[in-house]
Amino acid sequence: MSPGASTEDTFRRKDLLGLRFLSAGEITHILDVAEQFRGLNTRAVKKVPTLRGKSVVHLFLEPSTRTRTSFDIAAKRMSADTFSISGSASSTTKGETLLDTAKNLAAMHPDIIVVRHRRAGGAMILADALPETCIINAGDGACEHPTQGLLDLLTIRRALGGFAGRTVTILGDITHSRVARSNIWGLTKVGAKVRVCGPPTLIPMGLEEWGVEVHHNLEEAVRGADVLMALRIQQERIPRGGHFFPTLREYSRLYGLNRDKLRRWARKDVVIMHPGPVNRGVELEPEVIDGDWSVILDQVENGVAVRMACMYLVLGGERAAAREGRG
Ligand code: NCD
Repeated sequence: MSPGASTEDTFRRKDLLGLRFLSAGEITHILDVAEQFRGLNTRAVKKVPTLRGKSVVHLFLEPSTRTRTSFDIAAKRMSADTFSISGSASSTTKGETLLDTAKNLAAMHPDIIVVRHRRAGGAMILADALPETCIINAGDGACEHPTQGLLDLLTIRRALGGFAGRTVTILGDITHSRVARSNIWGLTKVGAKVRVCGPPTLIPMGLEEWGVEVHHNLEEAVRGADVLMALRIQQERIPRGGHFFPTLREYSRLYGLNRDKLRRWARKDVVIMHPGPVNRGVELEPEVIDGDWSVILDQVENGVAVRMACMYLVLGGERAAAREGRG
């Protein structure tokens, strides 16, 4: 199924490419299924036969620690066979295109390819070209990172009980962040209010048209927000010689969060998030990362359940379970 607007409130797609293409109902459904998988991750025996006989290829052509491990653990806990290919070990370093690499992998009949690529649209190209293989986008350039957006939504829903009337402030490098884009799409669809805040050079023009409030003053962006989501500056996506702010120290003084700023401006019960990897002392001070406000490790924990849900749903597991009366 190619991407497009949807009013579905269940998830029936072959691929998961971005939250932009999903309806609020589809997003809520994925979160509900992930909620059911959560319990498995803390049981003594963490394996279920749900994806037995299925194979999952992790094609990561950009660095990753959390996302890749999380997908791998999720697939293995559902008994799928997993195969990992990284950028340096793949034939893309010999000049092969992403599409040729993927077509060759698809010829070995994996059920899912999880792909991370530095170019926006990388996952979409594979989804169109490989009708027999489910494609899950694990990050395409600065475009989308849908499973990160979903795990962030699940973490927020668990922390706050829902999205209606809630305000989420996303802080930092919005221009180069696929996490920001997936969160903006996802959060606005499920009814949360989104603010972004950062230096004008790190916020794309016209973002207000996405239904987002744009701030350049940290205090204004923090006051009244239920969630503060800090982002890393994506140095790897900033062209060499590009200067988006004077110095890291200056950036941190204006846009970094520390205990003092939180005590003065934030709600007492504010929730602090970060997709990782965190640059300690730049976007967040250690006392914030490790303090009671932080749900950063909950995000990582919820990521496994969300990825289980996504793999299960793209493979039509739910439809099969309903057919067999296990729904
Ligand atoms: C993010 C990514 O790769 O886009 N990290 C992640 O997947 N957990 C954010 C980042 O790299 O800063």
